[in-house]
Amino acid sequence: MGKRLKKLAASGQEQMGDMSSTLQEIFAGIRVVKAFGREDAEGERFRARNRAYLSTTLKTNQVWAIGHSHMEIIGVISVATLIWYGGYLVISGTMTPGAFFSFMAAMILAYTPIRKLSGSNNLIQQALAAAERVFDVLDMNTEQAHDHGTAPLMGIKQAIEFQGVSLRYENHTVSALTDIDLVIKPGEVIALVGSSGSGKTSLVSLLPRFYEPTAGRVLIDGLPLASYELHSLRAHIGIVSQEIVLFDDTIQRNIAFGRTGASQADVEQAAKLAYAQDFILRLPEGYQSIIGERGLKLSGGERQRLAIARAILRDPPLLILDEATSALDTESERIVQLALANLMKNRTTLVIAHRLSTIQNADRIVVLERSMLFEIQNMRDSSGKVEPMRGSMPCSFNPKK
Ligand SMILES: Nc1ncnc2c1ncn2[C@@H]1O[C@H](COP(=O)(O)OP(=O)(O)OP(=O)(O)O)[C@@H](O)[C@H]1O
Ligand SMILES: [Mg+2]
Repeated sequence: MGKRLKKLAASGQEQMGDMSSTLQEIFAGIRVVKAFGREDAEGERFRARNRAYLSTTLKTNQVWAIGHSHMEIIGVISVATLIWYGGYLVISGTMTPGAFFSFMAAMILAYTPIRKLSGSNNLIQQALAAAERVFDVLDMNTEQAHDHGTAPLMGIKQAIEFQGVSLRYENHTVSALTDIDLVIKPGEVIALVGSSGSGKTSLVSLLPRFYEPTAGRVLIDGLPLASYELHSLRAHIGIVSQEIVLFDDTIQRNIAFGRTGASQADVEQAAKLAYAQDFILRLPEGYQSIIGERGLKLSGGERQRLAIARAILRDPPLLILDEATSALDTESERIVQLALANLMKNRTTLVIAHRLSTIQNADRIVVLERSMLFEIQNMRDSSGKVEPMRGSMPCSFNPKK
């Protein structure tokens, strides 16, 4: 029964986890749920999870109850047997009545602790199942386990180099990146373009070492990324990602996210450069306004500008910009563009560009197509002549698009 309880406890915990993650997911996407009229269906999905958990809990209680009643029955039967046998011994004169009664008293005293012991075994089995789950999580390989780098990164002085880099995600048959060679000089702005799913976000995720290349290597100033301390590497990188992540907190703290201890003046300066000051001051509580879960109370363009302000305040030497494709109207696009221009000033920037204006401001354009990289031209060649193409376009790529 202990074994069975342990199994039930393990699946009960899993089901409780499922139930709370379903709830979290539904609440996080409540607008989509409402817009698609899925309230009932999602309610049913939750109820199904809830029922599964309920049934496991009931089964657990059943096993407990059966165990308990079995113990009682065994107890009563053994007492009856002992009285019968002991009585027989006393009557036949083999045992004195005194010895028999003291034995009975001792047995009755021992009965309760023995029963409790079997109950505790059940509890211990359930606790073991819980402990196994906790240790599974504790034993997971953390990022720190791969962090063997010792060199502190002190700015990017010569170049960032991708040498024959390939990346294939776990359990995928096709590579997300194939044999990428790219050299980025300090201060350069590189626009990375390419169709959806071509591997742009994957390429830039290698720089903060969110993923490790399956082949080839990425170097900064001649040393592979893995030889640098992870935190010092990441301290050099600012990311404005495709999906803007904001926290349900004040605007002030969202902007100061990457630099704890930033003063109010620093935050305001960053907001100004990101063209966010105007809309922030229009909010009833200004910098102290709470922006809702994932910035729900702001518009798309406002969210982008907050993310830009956050990157400006962090002031990283290497900037990774994964432009969102969200359609902004021309006015907001112009403002976001101005904010981006402020952000890219004096920085090595790798920008995944969707807007023509961003591409125009780049020093070089590289195209990723079906996981392969092509460089199309050198925009700002000092002599004015256009660099020849390195590599040729695959036939599916039509630059006129
Ligand atoms: N974390 C991941 N795990 C597994 N596969 C992934 C992961 N991220 C991306 N992929 C796959 O890798 C390929 C490249 O994705 P990636 O996000 O780099 O594309 P992208 O060029 O950024 O596209 P988009 O312009 O739509 O953002 C896709 O086929 C995608 O399915
Ligand atoms: Mg992407």
